[in-house]
Amino acid sequence: MNIRPAGIKDLDRVSYIESSCFEAERYPREMLEEILAREGFLTFIAEEGEVLGAVTVHYAGEEAQLVSLAVLPGFRNRGVASALLRTAEDAARDLGAREMVLQVRTLNVPAMNLYLHRGYVLAGIIRNYYGYRKDAFFMRRAL
Ligand SMILES: CC(C)(COP(=O)(O)OP(=O)(O)OC[C@H]1O[C@@H](n2cnc3c(N)ncnc32)[C@H](O)[C@@H]1OP(=O)(O)O)[C@@H](O)C(=O)NCCC(=O)NCCS
Repeated sequence: MNIRPAGIKDLDRVSYIESSCFEAERYPREMLEEILAREGFLTFIAEEGEVLGAVTVHYAGEEAQLVSLAVLPGFRNRGVASALLRTAEDAARDLGAREMVLQVRTLNVPAMNLYLHRGYVLAGIIRNYYGYRKDAFFMRRAL
């Protein structure tokens, strides 16, 4: 598996991952375009002949925010997300971030397990974060 930084030329790939992995709370294509072009956002893609998944992080000063992390259904449970997250954490740390924060839907067991296994701790709950009765956990980890 190869992990590399993504740019605007990867819009179709990132868009495909987003639409294959998220439902209501997915980012629209225009926003993905903005994210890929804008200063302050970093996106990495995992590939193995074909695209496997992607991660996006926003960094500002000492705090980095995990914006999106997704692996295509056929490639899950083989460490792709863990490798992408590690890459994003290392890159944010190199840019001066001291902490990574994220929100995850309270019902998203695979993602919760991933973050807990990667050393993230629960720091709060945000009611209705993803819409009515769709709460999120707020998690953080020192980098
Ligand atoms: C969450 C997601 C990114 C995990 O990707 P992945 O490549 O399968 O994750 P990994 O193989 O690196 O697994 C890492 C850990 O996650 C947990 N995990 C992954 N899939 C799981 C599942 N189906 N059920 C329970 N735990 C799971 C495990 O604890 C695993 O650690 P372990 O191997 O030590 O047991 C993937 O399921 C996904 O894309 N889901 C849809 C999008 C999404 O919800 N993204 C997160 C938004 S906050």
